[in-house]
Order: sequence, then structure tokens, then C-alpha cells
Amino acid sequence: MSTQSIILTGDRPTGPLHLGHFVGSLRNRVKYQHEYKQYVMLADAQALTDNMDDIDKVHRNVVEVALDYLAVGIDPTLSTIFIQSQVPELTELAFYYLNLVTVARLERNPTVKEEIRLRDFERDIPAGFLTYPVSQAADITAFKATLVPVGEDQIPMIEQTNEIVRRFNRTYKNASTQQEILVETKALVPELGRLPGIDGKAKMSKSLGNVINLGATADEVSKAVKRVYTDPLHLKIEDPGHVEGNIAFTYLDAFDTDKAAVAELKAHYTRGGLADSIVKKRLEAVLQEMLEPIRVRRAELASDKGYILQLLREGTEQAREVAAQTMREVRAALGLTYF
Ligand code: TRP
Repeated sequence: MSTQSIILTGDRPTGPLHLGHFVGSLRNRVKYQHEYKQYVMLADAQALTDNMDDIDKVHRNVVEVALDYLAVGIDPTLSTIFIQSQVPELTELAFYYLNLVTVARLERNPTVKEEIRLRDFERDIPAGFLTYPVSQAADITAFKATLVPVGEDQIPMIEQTNEIVRRFNRTYKNASTQQEILVETKALVPELGRLPGIDGKAKMSKSLGNVINLGATADEVSKAVKRVYTDPLHLKIEDPGHVEGNIAFTYLDAFDTDKAAVAELKAHYTRGGLADSIVKKRLEAVLQEMLEPIRVRRAELASDKGYILQLLREGTEQAREVAAQTMREVRAALGLTYF
């Protein structure tokens, strides 16, 4: 892929990030930042679409999530980390895009449909929530992002963004060169997809209470490992056990770098004669070793909030310049240039 590729990615800052984020996105961002121009957005404005009654939580978590980013190695000299609400051009762009989509189209968006169901919003959907895919289209296109790393379930968002881009480009062009202004984007779906929760549920999620946070203490990690779902049919040590659906092994596959040792453990477990406690002991060692430097770095950074805010301010200024340039082009194309 060309070095011209631009990535826009981000998270709603509603809680600390966990191992699921690490596997699904953070780890890839650390890699992508060397290969592409990468913008990482703290989507606080989007978080408000279903947290207007708990704005404080969103405020607090802007810094918490920024700490998670830095602790795992997202490098502010390589990636532009910024706060969505402090780039008002994104809101302005979304406002115009709203006229390029229909309410019916938004109601058909499968991702939004599912989220509305999960939140019991069927009767009273905040208009901002229903239209957040439009705001997301503004986020992506303001940076002319060509790649958006997303899970499978977010693909409809990318399709909706490209519909807006095509509608816009068909009608509105650069006033002097007649060139297209907006750029279509592509979903970048990670190979190693979703990490299941410690309870064996398909998704690790704060609301399901089955997470291991990146900032978890050693004791919390240890307790979580004890709760990790294994094979309910593996009652006696000598019984043959199953490794599929056994979360201890799923996590070892995801995090243990010694693949041969894991293969050996799996064979032994399947054969019978290997206790869950031995598997979990290895899992705990692997997780503690991986999380310890993240925890230490996180704590160091957390002791200097001023520094974090300074980084975010600089990232936001950079991001704002880029978004403002796109917004100037869009305004000119729409003829919204009076003075
Ligand atoms: N929807 C993302 C989340 O819930 C955050 C986000 C906002 C985003 N705008 C985006 C992600 C644009 C990718 C592209 O975490």
C-alpha cells in the first residue's frame, strides 16, 4: 500500500480500555503509525450522543483513554492524537452532510439498528445518536482518510460514509479546478478479530463485566485469570480436555509468544493429565509480563496530567489545521463564501 494512505481511528471515551481493545485495535495502531499518517481521535462528542446525562464520565475518560494510548505505545510524535469536540470543523461538516442522507437510510444502518436495540432507545432515540454515522463520516472525510481500521460490525459505517462522499462529489466540486474534494475510504479489518471475555462470552466488554483493563493492578489480573472460563467438562485432571472455546487457551494463543510451548500444553490438555491450574499459571505469567510495563508507564504518565493535556492540545491543533483546510474547500464548493 502506498505511503500516502491516511488512517483515522478513535474511541468513545466512556471507560478505560481493556485487552479486547488491545487485540482489536491498539496493537495495530502501534504498528500502523510507522506505515501511515495516523490520526487517533478521542471521540468525546460522539460519546455524548448517548451519555448526555453523564458528561462528567466522558470528561474523565478523555484523559484515561489518552493514558491507555500512550501506555501501549501510540507515539504522539508519529500519530496525531486529538480531542473531537475541540475541532469544531467536524461538527460543521457533519451539519452539511446531514442533508445528504435520509432518516430512512439512517434507520436502516444495521450497526445503529443494533445499538438502538441494545440501549432500549426504540421509542426515544436522541437525534444525535441516530445521526452519529453522519458525524463519523465527517470525522473520516475531514482528514481525507483512506483507511479506517474497524471491526466487521462497523463496515456499514464505512459504506454510509462512502455514499455521502459520492453524493457530495457528484454535485459539488472544487470551484476553480473542478476536481473532487472528498476521498472515499476503505475499512481495514484486523486479522485477529475479537477477543472473547474472561467468562467465554464472544465479546470482552465493560458492560458485560468480563474485561481485563490495561491499567489493571497485578492483583486484579490474578483474580481475573482465576475466573477465566475453561472447559466445563474437564472435571478431573486426568480427563481429556477441550481447547476450542477454552478461553485460557484463546488468550495464550493471543498473547503467549512461545507458540511451541502453547502447542505442547494444548496437546497435553487434550490428551488428559493437565490441570487447569497449570494452564492458568502460565496464562497469568504471560499476562502479568505483558501488562506490567503498560501499568508502570501508565502510572508514570498519570502523575503528570499537565503533560498529557499539553500533548492533546498539540495534537488537536495539528488535527484542526487539517480539518479546517478541508472545511474551507467544502465551504467554497457549496458557495458558502460571502465575504
Ligand atoms: N465509533 C467509534 C467508537 O465507538 C469512535 C469513532 C468516532 C470513530 N468517529 C470515528 C472510529 C471515525 C472510526 C472512524 O469507538
